Amino acid sequence: MIFGAIVAGGVGNRMNLSGLPKQFLPLGKSQKPIIIHTLEKFLICEKLDFIYLGINKDWLGYAEELLDKYDIDKKKVFIVPGGADRNLTILNIIEAIEKNHGESKEHIIVTHDAVRPFVTLRMLNENIEAAKECGACDTVTPAIDTIIESKDGKFISSVPQRSFMYQGQTPQTFNMSELKRLYNDLTEEEKSILTDACKIFTFRNKPVKMVQGDAFNIKITTVSDYKIAEAIIGGNLCD
Ligand code: CTP
Repeated sequence: MIFGAIVAGGVGNRMNLSGLPKQFLPLGKSQKPIIIHTLEKFLICEKLDFIYLGINKDWLGYAEELLDKYDIDKKKVFIVPGGADRNLTILNIIEAIEKNHGESKEHIIVTHDAVRPFVTLRMLNENIEAAKECGACDTVTPAIDTIIESKDGKFISSVPQRSFMYQGQTPQTFNMSELKRLYNDLTEEEKSILTDACKIFTFRNKPVKMVQGDAFNIKITTVSDYKIAEAIIGGNLCD
């Protein structure tokens, strides 16, 4: 089976706009919350059997109310409490999936940030195909700016060749049992420095295929990202 896993366990400290975690902020003329825009993209992907939302544990009731308000099919979409970090939110979702649908070496999980509402059906379909083929994939765009590495935040340590550099987005899609196995195999120290689920695979030299992302597939992190998202959805990027 193929599962969507939309992660929304964070609170959006860097947005710092209101008491509302950023995934619940209204977006566009419809004023639908960002997470509902994202969920609607997942709902049009017919390859997904079920969709799980990993919600910050203080906002579970709020998220349930949103599913009712936007008439979301609760036989297809489930809410699970988020974890202390992004990877733990994914692990909580995997636990719920295995409890509800059983364990299988064939399950595929399409993980995605709730705060990337401009994901496309093409990205979802290509992610699923790539993960079936290779076991893991990431959605990326070629680096536009030169990427600078600095180990101390003061001086440049290196300037990697730009043609080898990409920026990681989401979705990131995995063979679910392999993701769980590799994560459980990590040391506590390795777990604490992992900010990215694909790194769980690269840490153990497992291949991760690249799927073409899109400049519009932004992660809404700061107030300026939120304004850009409003411009994208309103179609008034040149105003
Ligand atoms: N996320 C999650 N569980 C966590 C932390 C983050 O599921 N414990 C999710 C966020 O809700 C978001 C995605 O991971 O959809 C990307 O993370 P980020 O943009 O860093 O979100 P926040 O952690 O909410 O933001 P901040 O770091 O500014 O607090």
